[in-house]
Amino acid sequence: MWVHTFWLLASTVMGVAWSPDDLSTLQNSTSLIVTGLLDYYPVASSEDSVRLGATPGVFQQPYYWWEAGVAWGVMVDWQYYTEQYGKNDMIKEAMEYQMGTNGNYMPANQSMTEGNDDQGFWALAVMTAAERNFTNPSGNHGWLYSAQAVFNEMVQRWETTTCGGGLRWQIYTWNSGYNYKNVVSNGCFFNLAARLARYTGNSSYADWADKIFDWMTTNTLLFEDGDDWKLYDGATMESNCSTKTEIEWSYNYGLVISGSAYLYDFYNSSSTWLTRVTDVWNRASTQFFQNSIAYESACQPSGKCNNDQRCFKGIFLQLLGQAARLVPALESDIMTAINATAAAAAGSCSGGYDGHTCGLNWLDSSYDNMYGLGEQISALSAMSVTQVLSKNKPYTANNGGSSNGSVDAGVNTGSSSLLSDDTPISGKDKAGAGVITAVLMLFLIGVGVWILI
Ligand SMILES: *[C@@H]1O[C@H](CO)[C@@H](O)[C@H](O)[C@H]1NC(C)=O
Ligand SMILES: *[C@@H]1O[C@H](CO)[C@@H](O)[C@H](O)[C@H]1NC(C)=O
Ligand SMILES: *[C@@H]1O[C@H](CO)[C@@H](O)[C@H](O)[C@H]1NC(C)=O
Ligand SMILES: *[C@@H]1O[C@H](CO)[C@@H](O)[C@H](O)[C@H]1NC(C)=O
Ligand SMILES: *[C@@H]1O[C@H](CO)[C@@H](O)[C@H](O)[C@H]1NC(C)=O
Ligand SMILES: *[C@@H]1O[C@H](CO)[C@@H](O)[C@H](O)[C@H]1NC(C)=O
Ligand SMILES: *[C@@H]1O[C@H](CO)[C@@H](O)[C@H](O)[C@H]1NC(C)=O
Ligand SMILES: *[C@@H]1O[C@H](CO)[C@@H](O)[C@H](O)[C@H]1NC(C)=O
Repeated sequence: MWVHTFWLLASTVMGVAWSPDDLSTLQNSTSLIVTGLLDYYPVASSEDSVRLGATPGVFQQPYYWWEAGVAWGVMVDWQYYTEQYGKNDMIKEAMEYQMGTNGNYMPANQSMTEGNDDQGFWALAVMTAAERNFTNPSGNHGWLYSAQAVFNEMVQRWETTTCGGGLRWQIYTWNSGYNYKNVVSNGCFFNLAARLARYTGNSSYADWADKIFDWMTTNTLLFEDGDDWKLYDGATMESNCSTKTEIEWSYNYGLVISGSAYLYDFYNSSSTWLTRVTDVWNRASTQFFQNSIAYESACQPSGKCNNDQRCFKGIFLQLLGQAARLVPALESDIMTAINATAAAAAGSCSGGYDGHTCGLNWLDSSYDNMYGLGEQISALSAMSVTQVLSKNKPYTANNGGSSNGSVDAGVNTGSSSLLSDDTPISGKDKAGAGVITAVLMLFLIGVGVWILI
């Protein structure tokens, strides 16, 4: 009886304190969210049976590899925004381990799922590391090197026989979506190009960013609809990109808004990019917020967000923070939305056996009985990004950054090959790879695998 009463009382004080202007409170609250996030990371598990043989960088099933890249990128921002460095060795180990010997984020273990978007989110995580001057890797390849390697590989994968250009969704022929060109893959490429331009000062990257933006607009994946700019999911190559999937996801808007903000800054307050970033933000601000609180409008109202989609808001908010920092004209509007969202997200982190598990739906500022890696990532991102204005702009090579790179990174590491960098292929093996592809295709068709990301 006493125990029962105790828990009832305890539950009334559960949840996390929300007071973004008090650093100590912010640190304590976000640390609790990180602890919950790392419950899904076997390397960090306190149970030897789980930890034994765990691979650095990857989260437990069913979470796909791409989402791990998102988690580490959000944690790089979290440690920076909240000035808590105790997990930096773990973050560094994770990002460096998955980089692979060629530093290009093409680990053989992921060839069954890795698409351009998956590789792209890891590249954005290391781009964030370079921009935050995060602890440099111990090995030969800097964070910048990896970001450049992925960029260079994407340049090689630009496909011009259909749709007038664009990246395919998938890298490998055997994965579903090889004949689909989507905004998230091209949006990662755009965002990466814009950030590399600003970080390195090399305008070749900005030329690519311009080209990708133009490609999305000519194919009406990103288009003006009356007073609105809309951004769709993607389009089929069979239809030369005329058959589109007309779903709007918050993270796609985030990628375009942030990339446009970086270009606005790179081009010294360019009015073209100010118009673009403002227009796309205006659409996003009506499409993904209710009472200034962020929600994933394409899946949350129906209660059907899958594991991938549950972290989209976190990506979106992280990217919006960059735009608020780089585009003074948007600062007030974006921060109003981020601040209201973060308070509501903190309110949702009041569930689970630990009393501070975060939920998916933040609109009521309370826990909704949903939980998972995506929920933790999203709430952590929302709470951390409230600090963006009091921190430096993303560093560049000339101003605060110390990451080593190479313009030739990734160029000769077999990006167009069927297998990954871990497995250099000779001509003979390539023929073998074709057979493997055929066998895998049959297998995939047989089990009806449909991999969304
Ligand atoms: C944060 O946690 C530390 C260590 O547990 C504690 O000393 C401190 O009082 C806490 N700060 C706040 C504002 O709760
Ligand atoms: C790939 O999987 C093997 C077997 O689980 C593991 O030992 C290895 O560390 C993994 N490599 C990467 C880069 O994840
Ligand atoms: C496919 O679309 C591109 C750009 O949208 C266009 O330039 C090209 O002519 C189209 N090809 C065909 C066969 O219609
Ligand atoms: C931005 O301004 C700086 C300083 O005037 C100049 O060096 C740089 O070339 C300009 N950048 C672009 C992309 O025009
Ligand atoms: C948002 O919150 C941050 C942190 O408390 C604060 O510095 C900023 O002024 C707030 N901005 C707006 C527009 O509410
Ligand atoms: C960036 O990191 C390097 C290497 O650790 C360090 O020497 C430098 O002072 C850091 N720069 C800033 C702005 O913190
Ligand atoms: C970056 O490269 C330079 C020159 O090769 C080297 O001296 C330096 O140690 C490298 N820095 C890091 C952080 O790897
Ligand atoms: C700028 O980047 C491009 C594309 O990677 C590269 O070819 C070129 O050599 C770079 N220029 C400089 C000055 O580093």
